[in-house]
Amino acid sequence: MASFLSAFAMALLLSTILLKSELSESKHAGITRHYKFNIRLENMTRLCHTKQVITVNGLVPGPRIVAREGDRLLVKVVNHVPNNVTLHWHGVRQLQSGWADGPAYVTQCPIQTGQSYVYNFTIIGQRGTLFWHAHVSWLRSTLYGPLVILPKRAIPYPFAKPHEEVPIIFGEWWNVDSEAVISQALQTGGGPNISDAYTINGHPGPLYNCSAKDTFRLEVEPGKTYLLRLINAALNDELFFSIANHSVTVVETDAIYVKPFTTEVVLITPGQTTNVLLTAKSQPFGTTFVMAARPYVTGLGTFDNSTTVGLLHYNIPSFVNSSASRPKLPLLLPTLPPLNDTAFATNFSRRLRSLATNQFPANVPQRVDKRFLFTVGLGTSPCPKNQTCQGPNGTKFAASVNNVSFVLPTTALLQSYFFGQSVGIYTTDFPDNPPIPFNYTGSPPNNTLASFGTKLEVLKFNTSVELVLQDTGILGAESHPLHLHGFNFFVVGQGFGNYDPSKDPAKFNLVDPVERNTIGVPSGGWVALRFLADNPGVWFMHCHLEVHTSWGLKMAWLVLDGKLPSQKLPPPPSDLPSC
Ligand code: C2O
Repeated sequence: MASFLSAFAMALLLSTILLKSELSESKHAGITRHYKFNIRLENMTRLCHTKQVITVNGLVPGPRIVAREGDRLLVKVVNHVPNNVTLHWHGVRQLQSGWADGPAYVTQCPIQTGQSYVYNFTIIGQRGTLFWHAHVSWLRSTLYGPLVILPKRAIPYPFAKPHEEVPIIFGEWWNVDSEAVISQALQTGGGPNISDAYTINGHPGPLYNCSAKDTFRLEVEPGKTYLLRLINAALNDELFFSIANHSVTVVETDAIYVKPFTTEVVLITPGQTTNVLLTAKSQPFGTTFVMAARPYVTGLGTFDNSTTVGLLHYNIPSFVNSSASRPKLPLLLPTLPPLNDTAFATNFSRRLRSLATNQFPANVPQRVDKRFLFTVGLGTSPCPKNQTCQGPNGTKFAASVNNVSFVLPTTALLQSYFFGQSVGIYTTDFPDNPPIPFNYTGSPPNNTLASFGTKLEVLKFNTSVELVLQDTGILGAESHPLHLHGFNFFVVGQGFGNYDPSKDPAKFNLVDPVERNTIGVPSGGWVALRFLADNPGVWFMHCHLEVHTSWGLKMAWLVLDGKLPSQKLPPPPSDLPSC
């Protein structure tokens, strides 16, 4: 059965790869690459539990998309499952292609059963690792896969060419249907049931019950260098990752090169991608080392504290007599930081710097047109009459930005905007600053109720934005990985406690700050970002911990058209789904 399934999966994979890559020239001198993603139900077994899962082409993780900088991608998504589906190309800038971004009810209505939609976008000015995932409810738990962007032809990496490149994508597995998990949580108002395992390329590894053989294995040759493309596609957990007895060199995050630095542990939040170089040791033929990932957690709720493990195995070259190979050593786990090691998180984040060379400059906005201070954190909403709720003190959990818990509309915001039909769908009064200032990271206010609404923050084309994201201590300080669609931002400053607009800007790094699309707002602290609003459309911004998004920790920017034709959002494609 298992081998039949994997043969079937392999056939599907091949059919994906063999779909033609046409050599049609576009204005960015790239080619057009066609992919076909069939959304299908498939049985999947992990930890001796079999359930039906939603897949792309029968695979979890889904197929790898490979393109070069400058290429156009046409991904035809056909929905054969009962659920509504959308896919998001996480981190792709989507310059003037907002219709292809994918968040449900933000840029598009979902693709309904039996329908299809072609995501059509061009990769401009980006190279490295990103990923794609479903962007509706919790379907990302099985609908995710790598998106690899190679540099343009004949443009080398700013580091020695690796012998091989390997995506390592972290996921999260529930023995039960994850849609039932989130719908139950939203019903009761309590926290969702935690996952049963983390996975590396779909495999939980031997530390879980009934999972001894379900382990990812990376075969390496002594002395060779490997580019590991780390992707955190887990739903609710930031992860530490390490390989026993090895260090790695970080060279890129979120498809932007960084100044290389060496570390034994990588911290990666959901929504982040990190490329690292791993140089295999020169002689340990036949030996095996353990790689492992487990969470970094700052919140007060329960969480999956388990560890996923993979194996790094050194091949035995033919010139070595394998019968003379070494005795089997016990496998040792790498040393991972304590689960709540915020000091590590802070230090790791400070080490990340843009490459900032002539070829790969850091175009940090030096002037600022508009400043925003957004609080991010948890809160509550009242328990409906005649119901008992399992959130804090009998309420329901909510989460908010500037105390607005965002409510998704029943039609897509981008369509409403484009066709001038915003009335009753959204308002444009998102607060620029916290509605009631308080000691954000001190003892929580008496009133923890969030307000609810579909409010957008409007920006004129080419506005230079400075955005400070301030964690709150309401229901516990917590690190929130905030993700912005449609842009990269520069992380110009961060600190603990309350942001001080009179003192903190003096310490901003406007020279080589890291540029990315997802940043962990420090637990009990703040982070300052800058970006240029050069991309017209409606752009979602949310916590990439899926449970917080479900609770409302999300908002949207509306970037207006500029004057030139090249600064306008084009009309929607004819196959854009309707609600
Ligand atoms: Cu990776 Cu809006 O998400």
